[in-house]
Amino acid sequence: MSVRAHPMERLLDVLRHQLGLTGAKEGCGEGECGSCSVLLDGALVNSCLVPVLQAQGAKIVTIEGLAQGSELNALQRAFLDFGGAQCGICTPGIIMAAFHLLAKTPRPSEEQINEGLSGNLCRCTGYAQICEAVAKAAGEAS
Ligand code: FES
Ligand code: FES
Repeated sequence: MSVRAHPMERLLDVLRHQLGLTGAKEGCGEGECGSCSVLLDGALVNSCLVPVLQAQGAKIVTIEGLAQGSELNALQRAFLDFGGAQCGICTPGIIMAAFHLLAKTPRPSEEQINEGLSGNLCRCTGYAQICEAVAKAAGEAS
């Protein structure tokens, strides 16, 4: 996919407004909440802080890229099963952070899950269901 954009436009805005990929959400807009998380060449980034210039030629993965057609990714299924999503604002970013974690650490400990999700804030769930969902997805994938 290619787009024309001002080099300093935020990657989050280009994804949402030009490409219609509205999965990544804007929470704080200041790099604090992680709701806008996407993968940029395999690195987890806050897309609200990334000028689109930095994404030129890069491989971007958003939450829309995880499902295979109508088949949800194991993390997405586990979030549904465990109630890891409530209002849903944080959910795409948390799932991207978890996806990034499991790519590096397929069987994470509880501590590694907490650390892997430490850049993502959730105001609804209290995090327990989120961590359970990640552990379940990790168990399924291994
Ligand atoms: S909206 Fe990007 S970190 Fe909060
Ligand atoms: S589910 Fe509402 S902020 Fe996380």
